[in-house]
Amino acid sequence: MGSNHLSGNIPSQICLLTSLRFLALAENYLNGSIPPQIGMLVSLEVMYAYSNNLSGSIPVSIGNLSKLTVLELSENKVVGSIRNEIGQLKSLTTLYLDANQLTGSIPVSIGNLSKLTDLDFDENKIVGSIPNEIGLLKSLIGLYLFDNQLTGSIPVSIGNLSRLSSLELGGNKLVGSIPNNICLGGKLTWFTAGKIPKELGQLKMLYILKLNNNSLSSNVPVEIGMMSDLETLDLAANQLIGPIPMHLEQCSKLLHLNLRNNKFSGIIPFQIGNLLSLEDLDLSKNLLLGELPSELGHLDKLETFNLSHNNLSGLIPFMSNELLSLTTVDISYNQLEGPLPHIKAFTEAPIEALEGNKGLCGNNPSLKPCPTSKDENRNQAVIAVIVSISSILFLLFIIGGILFVCQKRVRNTDEPRETKTEAFFAAWNHDGKKVHEEIVEATENFDSKYCIGVGGNGSVYKTLLSTGQIVAMKKFHENDGIDHQQAFKSETSILPKVRHRNIIKLFGFCVHTRYSFLVYEFMKLGSLVKILSDNEKAMELEWFKRVNIVKGLANAISYLHHECFPAIVHRDISSKNVLLDNECEAHISDFGSATTLDPDSSNWTPFAGTLGYSAQLELAYTMEVNEKIDVYSFGVVALESIMGEHPGDLISSLLSSPLHAVDALLKDVLDQRLSPPKRQIADQVVSIAEIAFACVRQSPQSRPTMKQVSQKLSTPLQSLSVPFHMVTIKQLFDSPTWTS
Ligand SMILES: *[C@@H]1O[C@H](CO)[C@@H](O)[C@H](O)[C@H]1NC(C)=O
Ligand SMILES: *[C@@H]1O[C@H](CO)[C@@H](O)[C@H](O)[C@H]1NC(C)=O
Ligand SMILES: *[C@@H]1O[C@H](CO)[C@@H](O)[C@H](O)[C@H]1NC(C)=O
Ligand SMILES: *[C@@H]1O[C@H](CO)[C@@H](O)[C@H](O)[C@H]1NC(C)=O
Ligand SMILES: *[C@@H]1O[C@H](CO)[C@@H](O)[C@H](O)[C@H]1NC(C)=O
Ligand SMILES: *[C@@H]1O[C@H](CO)[C@@H](O)[C@H](O)[C@H]1NC(C)=O
Ligand SMILES: *[C@@H]1O[C@H](CO)[C@@H](O)[C@H](O)[C@H]1NC(C)=O
Ligand SMILES: *[C@@H]1O[C@H](CO)[C@@H](O)[C@H](O)[C@H]1NC(C)=O
Repeated sequence: MGSNHLSGNIPSQICLLTSLRFLALAENYLNGSIPPQIGMLVSLEVMYAYSNNLSGSIPVSIGNLSKLTVLELSENKVVGSIRNEIGQLKSLTTLYLDANQLTGSIPVSIGNLSKLTDLDFDENKIVGSIPNEIGLLKSLIGLYLFDNQLTGSIPVSIGNLSRLSSLELGGNKLVGSIPNNICLGGKLTWFTAGKIPKELGQLKMLYILKLNNNSLSSNVPVEIGMMSDLETLDLAANQLIGPIPMHLEQCSKLLHLNLRNNKFSGIIPFQIGNLLSLEDLDLSKNLLLGELPSELGHLDKLETFNLSHNNLSGLIPFMSNELLSLTTVDISYNQLEGPLPHIKAFTEAPIEALEGNKGLCGNNPSLKPCPTSKDENRNQAVIAVIVSISSILFLLFIIGGILFVCQKRVRNTDEPRETKTEAFFAAWNHDGKKVHEEIVEATENFDSKYCIGVGGNGSVYKTLLSTGQIVAMKKFHENDGIDHQQAFKSETSILPKVRHRNIIKLFGFCVHTRYSFLVYEFMKLGSLVKILSDNEKAMELEWFKRVNIVKGLANAISYLHHECFPAIVHRDISSKNVLLDNECEAHISDFGSATTLDPDSSNWTPFAGTLGYSAQLELAYTMEVNEKIDVYSFGVVALESIMGEHPGDLISSLLSSPLHAVDALLKDVLDQRLSPPKRQIADQVVSIAEIAFACVRQSPQSRPTMKQVSQKLSTPLQSLSVPFHMVTIKQLFDSPTWTS
């Protein structure tokens, strides 16, 4: 039935054809969802439904199709995530889901498809990292994941795919990258060293490797030279550094080499001239310098050659009988000088391909004749005009640049703290290795005398850097297991996206082979729990400071829930994760359990919080993540802040026998180490208690949202109707303000 003009839905009755082996519906105008009963077609071996207008998600029952070898749903409008059930299709050899609107991450169960030869998820909106299990797809020949939103690094296990011949991962956000700011005003500082895994070198059958448009950093591994069948290598638009590897010489079948828009430095290795099959060579927009190796002249198959926007200097060394196939050349914006070679592509090149050099001459109508030649200077006037126009443009450009910088400076003076740290870490950004060395040195290789705490996820060190700045550093061990890796991943993927005065700042992170660490701003007073458990310090934490802490906390959580998209749920708000700076301003830390609420998928995950800060019943009945988990924890921390101790007993007595608490007065449960609050502060403490009781309600639906909480806390209060010392717990607990 393929390639007809069929329209409307796929009728669910089709699923009664339980002996059907071949279903071809491709290239029609079918719309609506794939019938949920598709799993009844237990004999189905091939399903073509590409190029239709199918929407809806992939049915769960698809996992039933154990005989399916080919599934092609490309070019539709299928939404939702790729189901875990896909892993049950053990006979599958071809899986094409490209050009749809799939979200969610690649399920780990994909590793079960040991017969799969072609996997194409291009042009969707798939997030998360490429699962390590991809390395189990032993039959894989083509792996296409380009134009998605994949993050993390390229898994080393890819090196196990010994039959792989095409690997296209371009247009993602693979390592070095932290996803773009999704929060309002987010700001990024990082210094990761995202590597291209050397294991790629084991892919001896590979002939297409496209890793362009990611954020890969560090050097290209020398193992690249082991891919002796490589024909296309596209590493454009990354942050790759170091020299262009001369080992590329061994990839003697290379036709297309694109290294555009990276940070490759040093000279162009003469060995590139041995790549005699090369047709396209793009080295533009790098930091290359020195002279062009004359060996490049041997590239007789080369058709396009782009060297623009580097810092290459000296004469152009090619002879008129070289570069025989060249049609397009671009050498603009270098420091080249001297005569152009007598090669057609050069002599006919437009001025744009030559401009911005030091002193090119001759052999092209756009250029001055060379000093030695005695030709008449007919073109000189024209050139003079061009030159003066371009210098005016250049001047305008410079002036614009200065204005821009000044504006930035002026704006920055509002935030002196910000500017200092930014400048400092900006210096770090360029060299992850240096940062790493500095940290290791400053902590004397993580000596315990710098350790200020050991948490669930790693040890925290305080360290003074050579710049005079004190930072806190959390170190995770490589072999600390999957939970810790997950925590590291959560912190590094979520924290850089958020920017709020009451959320700790992550300055950057390093990944080393044996451990990884995160560097944060240092919080002088430590955690709220530590202060409250120390009588002396608790007494210094006066009422107005406590009110301010609760407000800051409410604002920060409200920001995470309501101003970030997708919303971020912290999942582990507790008094040990609330840190105070020397002005007693609260900062939420430890985003190791945090998660984003993806609107397209249900959010079921294992319990992640701290006992005593999560509603017990909620956890027993459901594992669904929603932001009301944080609202509950906030309520607990708010009560703890004013009571001076964990409110667990109070909450459980309120729940088990509300009548019992009728007579209890608020003033009697407040922190007795302080004298009772007075006037406006007393009103605010009452307001906090009232809100907090609403937050710890058992039913998530009846808790307020953090937006309501933070608004309520920041609006001016009316005076209490009863004197402060007569306010009862029951009165607050039953407050009508928060009934939903
Ligand atoms: C499917 O297409 C038909 C016309 O072919 C149209 O009447 C119908 O509304 C469409 N249904 C959906 C769900 O888009
Ligand atoms: C899908 O539907 C749109 C209108 O909703 C229509 O313009 C387009 O031609 C359809 N495409 C196919 C392949 O049926
Ligand atoms: C899965 O297949 C079995 C037969 O093997 C069938 O009875 C069942 O209805 C199918 N399930 C679904 C969800 O289609
Ligand atoms: C994948 O295979 C493993 C072991 O072979 C099995 O435990 C798991 O259930 C499978 N997953 C799926 C989704 O089929
Ligand atoms: C890759 O293969 C090596 C040896 O062949 C094996 O030790 C390793 O576990 C494999 N890794 C994956 C992820 O398949
Ligand atoms: C890569 O990025 C450039 C600009 O940043 C864009 O023009 C190009 O289309 C992108 N290529 C791919 C394959 O995404
Ligand atoms: C050469 O590369 C530069 C920068 O990447 C680009 O702007 C220019 O268009 C390229 N030249 C040609 C002729 O393609
Ligand atoms: C380019 O090279 C010249 C010397 O040839 C040097 O003075 C200049 O600093 C270099 N520019 C860059 C951006 O490396």
